[in-house]
Amino acid sequence: MSVLLKKTKEIEKNNLPAHIAIIMDGNGRWAKKRGNIRLLGHKKGVDTVNEIVTAAAELGIQYLTLYAFSTENWSRPKDEVFGLMDLLVTALENNLKKIQQNNVVLRTIGDLNALPPKTRAKLSDACENTKNNTGLNLVLALSYSARWEITNMVKSIAQDCIDGKISVENIDNTIINSHLCTREIPDPELLIRTSGEYRISNFLLWQIAYTELYFTETLWPDFTKEEFLNAIADFQNRERRFGKTGEQVRN
Ligand code: IPE
Ligand code: IPE
Ligand code: MG
Repeated sequence: MSVLLKKTKEIEKNNLPAHIAIIMDGNGRWAKKRGNIRLLGHKKGVDTVNEIVTAAAELGIQYLTLYAFSTENWSRPKDEVFGLMDLLVTALENNLKKIQQNNVVLRTIGDLNALPPKTRAKLSDACENTKNNTGLNLVLALSYSARWEITNMVKSIAQDCIDGKISVENIDNTIINSHLCTREIPDPELLIRTSGEYRISNFLLWQIAYTELYFTETLWPDFTKEEFLNAIADFQNRERRFGKTGEQVRN
């Protein structure tokens, strides 16, 4: 089964990426281009989040991970940081009904203890209230960075070794995965980054080992459902070889 899109690219519904991750970048530049403060770009970015979450839920994507705030973003000016934390509270209040209607399960990864108590409380309520939904898993990466996550994983495995729960020889991919924030989540198959930056910025470094990357010049507030679908169509036209030869994969 396939759906014909506006830009004539087709999506195969039986070959969807199970997990799409997005580095939502370019809000500040979007606002600056219009002579506005950066926070206005973040507000507009929330509208894009709504559009893309709805599209992913309707399409039947299982996991969508959004990089919303990195460990390094704490170094931004205080008014932007706290503006973003407040925006998160407002966005959750305004959209919880829609999240429920879309049957979305809200989850988070990152150092939630670093968030202001009000933001943390709203998030944990929203996660609790949606945990029995059965549709799209929407994973918000907040105060997240891959090096923070990997450092915690190393500490936790080292402690398990000291406690005699595992032996050093037994450490493998499975054990490492089970000590990451994403332990219940499959690796992303497609990673999208907006705003014309060609870097990963400390996002899911372990998990994207074999992820297909899609970069676009579009700033996040201008990103649309059409471009999201085009990114998926692009993914579907790639040959994923996982180290094998093309002949091996095709036969
Ligand atoms: C992404 O947009 C949102 C966050 C990092 C919170 P930016 O705020 O990084 O926007 P640019 O990159 O400065 O345009
Ligand atoms: C990455 O964007 C983090 C998020 C989108 C939350 P940044 O704007 O912080 O990344 P750099 O600084 O340009 O690498
Ligand atoms: Mg940026």
